[in-house]
Amino acid sequence: MRLDRYLSNMGLGSRKDVHKLIASGAVSVDGDTVRKKDAAVLEGEQTVSVNGREIRYKPFVYIMMNKPAGYVSSTEDADGPPVTELLGGSYCSYGLGVAGRLDKDAEGLLLLTNDGDLIHKIITPDKNVVKKYYCELKSDISDEDVEKFASGITLRDGTRLKSAALEKTVPEEGSASACAAVVGIREGKFHQVKKMFFAVGNEVLYLKRLSIGGLRLDPGLAKGGYREMTKEEAEKVFSRE
Ligand code: URA
Repeated sequence: MRLDRYLSNMGLGSRKDVHKLIASGAVSVDGDTVRKKDAAVLEGEQTVSVNGREIRYKPFVYIMMNKPAGYVSSTEDADGPPVTELLGGSYCSYGLGVAGRLDKDAEGLLLLTNDGDLIHKIITPDKNVVKKYYCELKSDISDEDVEKFASGITLRDGTRLKSAALEKTVPEEGSASACAAVVGIREGKFHQVKKMFFAVGNEVLYLKRLSIGGLRLDPGLAKGGYREMTKEEAEKVFSRE
């Protein structure tokens, strides 16, 4: 790996920042000062230090974000600023992907990582990872809706969905709606929760993801806030809530 990429991946700044750092003579590899930004480094084998502090290589990053409304989860979607814009510059070079997208107007738990295997495992429907959403609704839910969700909703386009848990809840403080529910789904189809409520004649006015498997949104994260997780914490997605 190039030295500039190594340092930028390890959070020492943008490529431009690390070029300055390297040129200043602050960076050494196995004890020797290196001033070439494209010098090759064997990550995990050689010791890279900045101003004498060892910078250990971490191959994967796992980030939990509290996505705010107005940002798009995909970098290919031109419909708004991508969530990656909310991250500090040092994460740009990681090539982060999103494990389970959220709509532009939706908020809550978003997992970003460059661990492609983890993303794949989370989004494959046969893993049965339950995603829980808090929803504010136009109308109240009925016992019949709960039963329909439990036996598997058929969307208006004919798509048959897996069983989903629907539970009435108290709207959050300051909510504009008098009706709220928590729904747990095991698939991740496009606009799935909105379409499920639409299929029973209701409408989602606000949507927030609370958890993915056993990984819950950190209540300490403000909207737009994020923090790194260990791989072990990220893998809570495969444990039950
Ligand atoms: N279901 C939706 O309708 N939207 C989301 O963002 C996630 C699940």
